[in-house]
Amino acid sequence: MTTEDARATGKVTLVTGASRGIGYAIAEALVARGDRVVITGRDATALAEAVERLGADRALGVPGKAHDEAHQAAAVERAMETFGRVDHLVNNAGTNPVFGPITETDLGVARKVYETNVVSALGFAQQTWRAWQKENGGAIVNIGSIAGLSASPFVGAYGMSKAALANLTLQLAHEMAPGVRVNTVAPAVVKTKFAAALYEGREEEATAGYPLGRLGAPEDVAGAVAFLLSDAAAWITGQTLVLDGGRFLNAAV
Ligand SMILES: NC(=O)c1ccc[n+]([C@@H]2O[C@H](COP(=O)([O-])OP(=O)(O)OC[C@H]3O[C@@H](n4cnc5c(N)ncnc54)[C@H](OP(=O)(O)O)[C@@H]3O)[C@@H](O)[C@H]2O)c1
Repeated sequence: MTTEDARATGKVTLVTGASRGIGYAIAEALVARGDRVVITGRDATALAEAVERLGADRALGVPGKAHDEAHQAAAVERAMETFGRVDHLVNNAGTNPVFGPITETDLGVARKVYETNVVSALGFAQQTWRAWQKENGGAIVNIGSIAGLSASPFVGAYGMSKAALANLTLQLAHEMAPGVRVNTVAPAVVKTKFAAALYEGREEEATAGYPLGRLGAPEDVAGAVAFLLSDAAAWITGQTLVLDGGRFLNAAV
């Protein structure tokens, strides 16, 4: 048996939106522990580069938009054709195209946010359930946000979608038990391209509310997701795990 075989878990995980940022860190952590991964993203070139970094024998890229039902089906089909199984799903692709009060938010934009952040996650979950998980079991982790747990003057439509994603987690956890566990992680600010506007040029100020003294790194989220997908989390389902460097410890008064 080669070293490669010895560390193989045999599990296959579909991670959406994983050419960079949190999704890529999750894929990297899963490959490091011996999973094979199927990753998605809109930019095919960036996705191919991510596959190359992860190792072409361990990773497969399927380019497409998360909300596109044909893409959701294709990603799961390619996973089944290539690896013969799809044990785990990480719904990570997400969008936040607008900053500002929700009372002023364009309804078309609000619908787009909901479509990408919530309906896409349901679509991917239906596909992995039908193709593999219903018969064989597995686990799902949805990438939520602390924005879904409180009100915000800047990211209201996004927060609304992440709150809905947490409820989708409850629905799926209930319907898919006992074979499939479904959980959410809810990070605070993690240093990625997505969140750059929240900290770039003012990182010291942005970090002030974090008792652990720093903003999140993609690897902080990846570690928690890898745990929730593992047998160590075998009795955890329907939960939202807040990953916030202690941000919510601050008393309101
Ligand atoms: N960073 C934070 O502070 C933070 C905090 C809480 C929660 N989150 C959540 O974490 C998730 C990942 O965010 P991130 O910070 O890692 O963002 P990121 O660095 O911008 O990476 C996003 C990834 O998703 C892909 N993607 C974006 N929109 C997509 C779409 N519509 N369909 C398919 N793929 C798409 C991107 O590739 P392409 O552009 O090529 O499609 C990229 O690979 C999101 O759900 C976000 O809401 C982030």
